[in-house]
Amino acid sequence: MPNLPESMELFRRASKVIPGGIYGHASPAAGLPGAFPYYAEKANGCRYWDVDGREYLDFMCGYGTISLGYGNPIVEEAASRQRKKGSVFNHPSAVMPELAEKLTELVDFADWAVFGKNGSDMTSWAIQVAREFTGRKKILKVQGAYHGVDPWCTPGSGGIIEEDVSHIHSFPWNDLDAIQTLIARHRGEIAGLILTPFHHPAFGDSQMPEKGFLPKVQKICNKEEILLILDDIRAGFRLAVGGSHTVFDFEPDLACYCKALGNGYNISATLGREHLRIAATKVFLTGSYWNDAVSMAASLACLGEIQASNLPAHLEKVGSLLINGLSRAASEYGFKMVFSGPPAMPFMRFQDETNFFKLQRFCALAANEGVFLHPHHNWFLSAAHDELAITQAIEAARRAFAKLSEEL
Ligand SMILES: Cc1ncc(COP(=O)(O)O)c(C=O)c1O
Repeated sequence: MPNLPESMELFRRASKVIPGGIYGHASPAAGLPGAFPYYAEKANGCRYWDVDGREYLDFMCGYGTISLGYGNPIVEEAASRQRKKGSVFNHPSAVMPELAEKLTELVDFADWAVFGKNGSDMTSWAIQVAREFTGRKKILKVQGAYHGVDPWCTPGSGGIIEEDVSHIHSFPWNDLDAIQTLIARHRGEIAGLILTPFHHPAFGDSQMPEKGFLPKVQKICNKEEILLILDDIRAGFRLAVGGSHTVFDFEPDLACYCKALGNGYNISATLGREHLRIAATKVFLTGSYWNDAVSMAASLACLGEIQASNLPAHLEKVGSLLINGLSRAASEYGFKMVFSGPPAMPFMRFQDETNFFKLQRFCALAANEGVFLHPHHNWFLSAAHDELAITQAIEAARRAFAKLSEEL
């Protein structure tokens, strides 16, 4: 398997000065230790290179933060133009209202926007706005859904006390009865219900909303005066230029966006409806770098490009090509794959597998063939994935399936 001496050496050094060496979702333990590289060197379009000089066709796109492709020239040009003027000042720059105007023009229900740096900043702020507006404490969320690393929602257990989650209640995805039961139990106490537009847990199939599920959730929330918060951080602007709610026919009160927004420049946003404007002004929101004009300029250019190129249509097309090609390549070696989630962000597994061992081995072999496919997380496509890249990825995957079949 791969020879990754530079990655290993950096990890050895890091382990002395950084707890765990690499932490969070990039930790080797969360991927394939020894098979995936630990450190990246550079990237371009839909490819990146690790510190050992190995090249990968990338289907994770920086875990979704790259929507147009690494180093997209339009975004880079906008960022470097702003960088020459400055990044963080004592005041926001003119790009901030311009970006808020752009977002509220793109997203139909939104009357205002605020900005942060990460998804967690926005989901936590949004639930505070819900609490401020309603004067209630409780939040409903979907079991197994990821909304970030703050104490109310982290999937980790370190440093969490029971009070952090004592007002957070979970229901299974697509389960209206469970929502009604929680509401009946806590009537008048629930401030907000937060969900993603489709359920995309790690280590599991993605689940689309059943027909009418999200409009019915909206109706229940409206009736009970519970704010409906859409966490569109992962899917936002990948499924529809106007936000994912337009695909599933419902309207949230607040929606949080992040990953596709800046093509690698760190920015997140929450958009909201008019009646929440005053509550929004009451929930203190700031950060040392949060007015950073470079990310905002990059985001403005990125959104313009998402709109001009109809990014969601492209992602659907190349994602479908990838899924069909991988299914065919797998079947040549007697494997049957199951794909879930939208083609723009597919999750793949072996049909007959009850653990992830075969999938992990396949992804390790694919990485060795120069294609980065994750065994535990949904993948991402970008504007830079063209038909040639998809064909090359399928060829590499075919070689990986062939090796897997020999090994088994
Ligand atoms: C659906 C969803 N919500 C929230 C977050 C948290 O975003 P961040 O990691 O930028 O804090 C993520 C990150 O993956 C996410 O996918």
